[in-house]
Amino acid sequence: MGKLKIAVYPGSYDPITNGHVDIILRGLELFDKVIVAALKNPSKTHLFSLEERIEMMEKTFDKCEKIEIDFFEGLLVDYLEKKKTFTVVRGLRAISDFEVEFQMALMNRSLKDKIETIFLVPSINYSFLSSKLVKEIYKFGGEIKSMVPDIVDEKLKAKYSQKQ
Ligand code: PNS
Repeated sequence: MGKLKIAVYPGSYDPITNGHVDIILRGLELFDKVIVAALKNPSKTHLFSLEERIEMMEKTFDKCEKIEIDFFEGLLVDYLEKKKTFTVVRGLRAISDFEVEFQMALMNRSLKDKIETIFLVPSINYSFLSSKLVKEIYKFGGEIKSMVPDIVDEKLKAKYSQKQ
């Protein structure tokens, strides 16, 4: 059998949104497998713990063999090496994303020359969506059920009703 084309789609996923889901599904059109890897970063304050973020991602992609849900710590390039791939997928929503993404792509390549970053553009419906805005809207009682997987909608409602 030939080699599988594998890409890693890294992110904070705090929480996963339909914008991420859209990029993952587009990635599957290009790669045999997409590894969705959540960053475990003790110094960053997330709303959801790593376990909660992973659980929501797993429930979103229940039984899809071509998608692997995982986490990583430390440098992304080291994780790519562990997974035996050189390809990173990232979503580009707008020009405002470009600067930071360009910097990350070049920094990763300067750490390891073979790294390629593939930018995918999400559906226009999600081009203004971010985990940060989703959290803010839920926090103040807003409703954007269509922007997140059902499990995330449930968990966000539960999280903010606990806090009140
Ligand atoms: O969803 P995010 O927060 O935009 O994802 C950012 C992420 C996790 C892809 C980025 O912070 C990352 O790769 N962190 C790992 C540490 C690392 O490798 N840093 C150097 C890359 S420039």
